[in-house]
Amino acid sequence: MPSIPILTIDGPSGSGKGTISRAVAERLGWRYLDSGALYRAVGLAAAWEGVDLSDAEAVALCARRTEIRFETQGAGEPHVIVNGKDATRQLRTETAGAAASAIAAQPPVRAALVELQHGFARLPGLVADGRDMGTVIFPDAPYKVFLTASAAERAQRRYKQLKDKGVSVNLDSLLHEIAARDERDAGRAVAPLKPAQDAVIVDSTGTAITEVIERVLAVLPENLRSPRQA
Ligand code: C5P
Repeated sequence: MPSIPILTIDGPSGSGKGTISRAVAERLGWRYLDSGALYRAVGLAAAWEGVDLSDAEAVALCARRTEIRFETQGAGEPHVIVNGKDATRQLRTETAGAAASAIAAQPPVRAALVELQHGFARLPGLVADGRDMGTVIFPDAPYKVFLTASAAERAQRRYKQLKDKGVSVNLDSLLHEIAARDERDAGRAVAPLKPAQDAVIVDSTGTAITEVIERVLAVLPENLRSPRQA
């Protein structure tokens, strides 16, 4: 994919990837790929269809036939439309995250989503958010960030995020669920969660969002940084 600038932002759950990636994409006027939403959507579609989540081939077939659309509706997160239904709220729950993490460990499921993800790379550029954006999906991306934060802070952020969305959660169980999900994501054989060798590590613990955005943007050469304001 020559000459399309790609910035990959990988990291564990609750590291602020979604918020930061969207803000950075907005600043640059680039497209945004929320790859986690794809795995969440496939997990949900499989559940709707009664597909056994442990049957990798069946889930992969489901991934290939599931229609996933991102729709911008005013400010804030884009809505995720799965097979014609607005599944945005359902997809944000920790249950959907856990289902996504379970199916994401299956190589045929990951393979089924590769082409779809590559299709997001278009001019003027792409900010790709996930776990394996810089290592597997866009290994040649010129700009790579691995965004992290302490486990306690990540659980707190997720807690606040879910509460703000009206999803009822318990902080303690959330901390455990997030730790279990990260362990599975980092320990799996295929595309494990880990920084690409050439990624810049950004630790956002105790750092304001605006500051994290600046630190991520600093990875890009000056001429790409704020084309909208140029
Ligand atoms: O980023 P998000 O929390 O929405 O991702 C949900 C799950 O999807 C992750 O825990 C991970 O297992 C999986 N995922 C993945 N590869 C990606 C993005 C997400 O395996 N690129």
